[in-house]
Amino acid sequence: MNKKTIIGIMGVCVVIVVIGVMYFMSSSDEDLNNQIPNIIDGNTESLVVYFSVPETDNPNNMTQDEENSTVVVDGEVLGNTQYVASLISERTNSDLFRLEPVDTYPTNHEELLERAMEEMTNGVRHTLKEEIDISSYDIIFIGYPIWNADLPPIINTFLETNDFTGKTVIPFCTHGGSGLAGTPRTIENKLSSATVITNGFSLSRTNMESAPEEVDLWLSKIGF
Ligand SMILES: Cc1cc2nc3c(=O)[nH]c(=O)nc-3n(C[C@H](O)[C@H](O)[C@H](O)COP(=O)(O)O)c2cc1C
Repeated sequence: MNKKTIIGIMGVCVVIVVIGVMYFMSSSDEDLNNQIPNIIDGNTESLVVYFSVPETDNPNNMTQDEENSTVVVDGEVLGNTQYVASLISERTNSDLFRLEPVDTYPTNHEELLERAMEEMTNGVRHTLKEEIDISSYDIIFIGYPIWNADLPPIINTFLETNDFTGKTVIPFCTHGGSGLAGTPRTIENKLSSATVITNGFSLSRTNMESAPEEVDLWLSKIGF
C-alpha cells in the first residue's frame, strides 16, 4: 500500500468519526426532552390534570362501548384516562385535577362522537366547571383520550388559558389504536415557554389491566 492510499484511508476514517460524533451530539440533544430536567426533591410540586369521559357510571351490564371507555376499580366506574391519571398521581405524589366543561358531554357513544366531531370541526373552546391555579406547580402531567387522532378540545382550552412558563409538561393518553397520534408535539408547539416531555405515555383501551405496571415502567424511564 503506497503513502497516498494510507493517507486517503486515514482521511475517510477521520470523516466517519467526525460524522459519528456529530450524530451522537445531535441525538443526545433530542433525548433531553425524554427526561424530566427538574431535580425532583422535597420542594418539587407536581400536578396531574386530566380529561376523561366514562360512558357509564353503572358497573353492571355494560354495552361494548361502555366497557371500552371504563375500568371498574373496587366497584367504582372510572374512565380509562381517569384511571391512568389516578395511578400517576398516586405514584408521583401529585395533586389530581379533572377538567370538565360546564356543558357536560353525553355518555351515549354515538352522541359523544357527534358532539366531539362538531366541536373539533368548529374549533370550540370550553368554559370549565372549575378552574385550577397552576402557578405553584413545577411539573404538570396532562392526560386525555385521543379524539379523532388529536387532543380533545378541552385540553386546548386548558393549554391556551394558563401560563406554562418554565414548567415541565408531561403528556399521557389512552386510545383505541392511534397511540399518542403526535399529540406531544402538538402540545410542544403550543407551549413554547415550557419543556414538554415528548416521550409521553400511551395505553390502549384494550390493555387497561396492565396500567399499573406500564405506568411504573414509563415513570422510571422519564426519571421518576
Ligand atoms: C369522540 C371520540 C373520538 C375518538 N377518536 C379516537 C381516535 O381517533 N383514535 C383512537 O385510537 N381512539 C379514539 N377514541 C377512543 C378513545 O381514545 C379511547 O376509548 C379512550 O380510552 C377513552 O378514554 P376515556 O374513557 O378516558 O374518555 C375516540 C373516542 C371518542 C369518544
